[in-house]
Amino acid sequence: MDYVPQLKQQHEILVDYLDQLKSCWKEKNLLQFKIVCAQLIGALRDHHDRELELLFSKAPERGLQQGGPFCSYYFEFFMTNRPLKAAEYWIKKLTGKATIVQVPDAINIYFTNNSQLTIPLEEHLALGALAQALFENIEQAPSEILSEAFYYFEDLLKLNLKKEESCLWVLLQSIMEPQYLLSLRK
Ligand SMILES: [Fe+2]
Repeated sequence: MDYVPQLKQQHEILVDYLDQLKSCWKEKNLLQFKIVCAQLIGALRDHHDRELELLFSKAPERGLQQGGPFCSYYFEFFMTNRPLKAAEYWIKKLTGKATIVQVPDAINIYFTNNSQLTIPLEEHLALGALAQALFENIEQAPSEILSEAFYYFEDLLKLNLKKEESCLWVLLQSIMEPQYLLSLRK
């Protein structure tokens, strides 16, 4: 499973930024919060692009239903707490404007084909949109809304990382072409 070390390293970087954001928020250091938030947005984008390139674009659609108990548990959670709807709810609270998070062209095919991979992809979209809204509204949004939106973001990011490490990466490793997995070792 040779894609794991590099993806795991990116997850650790994201967790580190999250910890820094939590400290900034506790200290009410909004300037530093904004700086770290911009870094986190960049790291999220890099990581999601890497997962798309290394994993999602190489995953056979047949086989994605074969998740184990962790996947089933997370699937139910996902269906009762759709991350895009929640992100749109918090973005509206932060900005005062109704927002629909757009699906970029690069991943639209997964949504039109109703792929199982829309589950992590929807989380990626929600995380990116919410981080951007926090970044843009840190000075003007009411602090209690910022606080709740930030804690929702933290929960969603931690859940996404845990799901990928305990379900998605393991499942993909078992269904991807052996030749492709071998090629990653070179
Ligand atoms: Fe990830």
